Amino acid sequence: MFTIPDFLKAKTEGRPLVMVTCYDAFSASILQATDIDAVLVGDSLAMVIHGYDSTLAATTSLMETHSRAVRSGGPDLCIVADMPFLTTRRGLKSAVEAAGRLMRAGANAVKIEGADGHEEIIPHLINSGIPVMGHLGLTPQFVNLLGGYRVQGKEAANAERILQAAQKLESLGCFALVLECVPEQLARNISSVLTIPTIGIGAGSGTDGQILVLHDLLGLTSGKKPRFVRQYLEGARLMEQAVNTFVADARERRFPSAQESYGVRDGKTVPMETLL
Ligand code: KIV
Repeated sequence: MFTIPDFLKAKTEGRPLVMVTCYDAFSASILQATDIDAVLVGDSLAMVIHGYDSTLAATTSLMETHSRAVRSGGPDLCIVADMPFLTTRRGLKSAVEAAGRLMRAGANAVKIEGADGHEEIIPHLINSGIPVMGHLGLTPQFVNLLGGYRVQGKEAANAERILQAAQKLESLGCFALVLECVPEQLARNISSVLTIPTIGIGAGSGTDGQILVLHDLLGLTSGKKPRFVRQYLEGARLMEQAVNTFVADARERRFPSAQESYGVRDGKTVPMETLL
């Protein structure tokens, strides 16, 4: 099983880390059979699964429910779970409470967006046995301050601010850092300056690893596809085709067949075709 210390080991060995999001038990059981290093129970589930227009709707209860489902479907997965909006902003007690619930639900670590204001909370969680992954650049919980889902760090001053925040997160003890939607040059620079691995999403090829939202990768999400998404499957189209084939089979009475039906002989269930 891939573990949290393996993140640093991968960077030391120059082996790219690969993660995807995972929100439910059935995906977890499939992902556990893949070569993926770790999964993220991202608060993006509020948008992808529950249809909200931002991640702000993800509560600790919701994240806890999904983390438990992922652990149940993927007992051997290395799981990072997102700390929901505001849970790190109500003091240590609230942060420990939320992180504790995610860890008890099966997470191996939590992810926190932003650096400012987390100087006390991150070391406290780590000293309590909760590994922390950082997240900088486009931090979706700050969408209202950022004015939308936009590339961050384009101007020199902002790039410098993100670099300094990355160094701060490393010095606070984070074991890895997600860099979302930043220019390739900035992500490459941060990755070379830090000892801990960076995991990019929309951050170019110079990071120590990559993460994608599973539903984007599988072609299950609708709407405009961000530039950084590579779609590996026409998932939505294949699902539509499969469901329409089922509908046609049922309407034409081609489904179910005798093999797919139960018969009864002497009070016992037998395959229907044995009675024909
Ligand atoms: O919530 C999420 O899915 C994330 C990834 C985009 C990194 O934070």
